[in-house]
Amino acid sequence: MKGAAGLALGLLACGTLPVRPPASEGERLYRAKCAACHRLYEPGRYAPAAWASALATMEKEKRVHLQPDERAEILAYLSGHVL
Ligand code: HEC
Repeated sequence: MKGAAGLALGLLACGTLPVRPPASEGERLYRAKCAACHRLYEPGRYAPAAWASALATMEKEKRVHLQPDERAEILAYLSGHVL
């Protein structure tokens, strides 16, 4: 039984849908706006400056539409997780 429970938890943890409610507006927006075309990259994967340029690229080349305040919230969320 222990094994089955572990497997179920593992499946949840590895699923594409986040299982935990967003902790901030930035996280909520990131999940809502940035998961349409690819998986959500880990916030700690890029330095804040790299996130800023990735966001700019997404907006310019991939035609992601963000309001200025949405961009700021998402960037604040992503930048707060530097490893
Ligand atoms: C309209 C589709 C689309 C949306 C929406 C989108 N992206 Fe992307 N993104 C892409 C494509 C296409 C690539 C390049 C191929 C890939 O990595 O899957 C990419 C790649 C990336 C990369 C990797 C860049 C690299 O050089 O390694 C990051 C980081 C990223 N996106 C962040 C974001 C963020 C943050 C958002 C939300 C603001 C977002 N994306 C929304 C299409 C999109």
